[in-house]
Amino acid sequence: MNGTIIKVKNVKKEYTLGEAVINALRGVNLEINSGKLLAIMGPSGSGKTTLMHLIGCLDIPTSGKIYLEGEDVSELSEESLARIRNKKIGFVFQQFNLLTRITILENVMTPLMYAHVPVKERKERATEALKEVGLAERMNHRPTELSGGQRQRVAIARALVTEPSIILADEPTGNLDTETGSSILEIFKKINENGKTVVVVTHDPEVGIMAEEIVHIRDGLITRIEKK
Ligand SMILES: Nc1ncnc2c1ncn2[C@@H]1O[C@H](COP(=O)(O)OP(=O)(O)OP(=O)(O)O)[C@@H](O)[C@H]1O
Ligand SMILES: [Mg+2]
Repeated sequence: MNGTIIKVKNVKKEYTLGEAVINALRGVNLEINSGKLLAIMGPSGSGKTTLMHLIGCLDIPTSGKIYLEGEDVSELSEESLARIRNKKIGFVFQQFNLLTRITILENVMTPLMYAHVPVKERKERATEALKEVGLAERMNHRPTELSGGQRQRVAIARALVTEPSIILADEPTGNLDTETGSSILEIFKKINENGKTVVVVTHDPEVGIMAEEIVHIRDGLITRIEKK
């Protein structure tokens, strides 16, 4: 699909903690074109993860609108949000978030179970996704038997297996050494070259160098959009 894939319109997000109200996002406007590799950068507490959660349908805004491929996702029920997440979004987190009691193949198969894909096809597609990240020969291992970089590659395979149009990553290199982090970024670059829209929240200057566009955010507002 060409054109705008993600549209954020005057989005505000408030968190209430007892008496206190935290204005995590204070009126964010952003349009992301399909096929872009975009970085979101800003200081700690500026609202990066909050924005990623809203784009990824993990939460809804207090006010304002979010559209994914033209569909308004800003006022959906939990159930509808879960369905859209499973269909359109692949997540990669700093802490990998893998299930430690099952093999990496089973980890990668999990999103396909929620998508009601038959078990044989689940296995085939998960194997293929693990091949793409260079871990096919490890598929019967558990996450605890792998290095940090390998675990993150499993998480990427799990994000890709449902063939989402959007990949969202929150500090994907935050727990990795520089060299391992670079190899993970190479994978994101490849994923993007294969046509997916990739949004990376990061402090890592290397991501900034690789991205086509950098969105700078501070105190819940976009302060600058850098296009290369
Ligand atoms: N679930 C929550 N409940 C209450 N406040 C929250 C919640 N999540 C985030 N916040 C607050 O919202 C603001 C933005 O947080 P957010 O996690 O989006 O920042 P961030 O830019 O991702 O920071 P970091 O770089 O440290 O990850 C912060 O003030 C934070 O304390
Ligand atoms: Mg964060």
